Amino acid sequence: MSDFVNGFWGYFIAIVAVGGVVWCIWLLYTQRRWLSATPASGKVEDTGHVWDGDLTELNNPVPTWWTWMYLLACAFALGYLFLMPGLGQYKGKLGYSSTEEVAQQQAKMAEAVRPIYARFETMSVPQIAQDPGAREIGQRLFLNTCAQCHGSDAKGGPSFPNLADGDWLHGGSPETIMQTIKEGRHGVMPPWKDAIDPKMAGDIAQYVRSLSGLTADPVRVFRGKRDFANFCVACHGVDGKGNQLMGAPNLTDDVWLYGSSEATIVKTILEGRDNRMPAHEHILSPEQIKILTAWVWGLSNKPDAQKQAAVTPAESDAAK
Ligand code: HEC
Ligand code: HEC
Repeated sequence: MSDFVNGFWGYFIAIVAVGGVVWCIWLLYTQRRWLSATPASGKVEDTGHVWDGDLTELNNPVPTWWTWMYLLACAFALGYLFLMPGLGQYKGKLGYSSTEEVAQQQAKMAEAVRPIYARFETMSVPQIAQDPGAREIGQRLFLNTCAQCHGSDAKGGPSFPNLADGDWLHGGSPETIMQTIKEGRHGVMPPWKDAIDPKMAGDIAQYVRSLSGLTADPVRVFRGKRDFANFCVACHGVDGKGNQLMGAPNLTDDVWLYGSSEATIVKTILEGRDNRMPAHEHILSPEQIKILTAWVWGLSNKPDAQKQAAVTPAESDAAK
């Protein structure tokens, strides 16, 4: 059994397990004078403890049924240890293994769902996105594997991107979404505190705010614009529209991963950001990844008929 670091622990467990049962039987044997229902003297002894003047504590023998139950429990324990794996390396007469049971159940499960997934094998992601059955599966997979970070409505939160707003850090094509799910993503903005002081960062933040039409101080925006050109355009672009190949967000659209306040932007500039989406190719099957891709893609690519009905004003100026 690979669970043990070395052979010693297997023996240790076996000895403790058998020793425990033997000890229980030995205890019963040495205390056998308490087992008979009628004591030899014919009179129940007392323990010598007396309360309230006349309340005596009797020392009644254990009832016979109790003794039998005790013995049966010992016999059951020995039988169990013989049949099941409980003695260190010993695999048990029945050869039961919980790992194998899980593997069998998983294989059975995979077999049962194969025909359901087979239907989607030849379909494209946009086609799957329109299939009500696939959307149901996609939503369930999302709630199980993705919602803890992206929220049950996929609208994200601070540091977790909104997947339903049509705005993408890395890209919203089916291929890119699939790659994100499979391989994960690592969004890194380097810290600038060695090159930029807090006052300068504040000015740059004012300029960044002006890019998406938020209120900003014109004098500071003017100063910040110059520094933005020096430090930020390599990733966020000359126009601040970002670069999906680097996962550098568009700063002009008023969609914020962290927040739009000057303090939050200054924090991002001085301390940088290090954000990780875990890879899922070892957790989900290729079929599940395809359905999830379609579900996520479908959130911002609704079929026209649905679009009319589903896009409310609140949703169309998507998140902030
Ligand atoms: C542990 C938290 C976590 C889980 C679980 C998680 N994600 Fe993410 N996801 C993130 C973070 C953080 C990012 C942003 C990465 C970055 O900043 O570049 C992200 C980014 C993404 C993106 C890219 C968004 C964009 O704008 O380009 C997609 C698509 C995505 N996740 C889908 C999913 C799906 C589908 C699942 C479930 C299979 C999932 N995520 C599970 C944390 C998570
Ligand atoms: C090396 C590339 C790179 C440089 C240079 C860079 N950034 Fe970034 N920036 C990123 C990446 C990547 C992210 C996304 C981080 C994440 O996924 O969490 C980001 C995120 C941000 C955010 C958060 C946006 C939001 O939606 O909350 C702001 C604001 C920002 N950068 C501003 C700046 C400013 C201002 C500068 C110049 C001082 C700068 N960046 C320089 C790569 C860069």
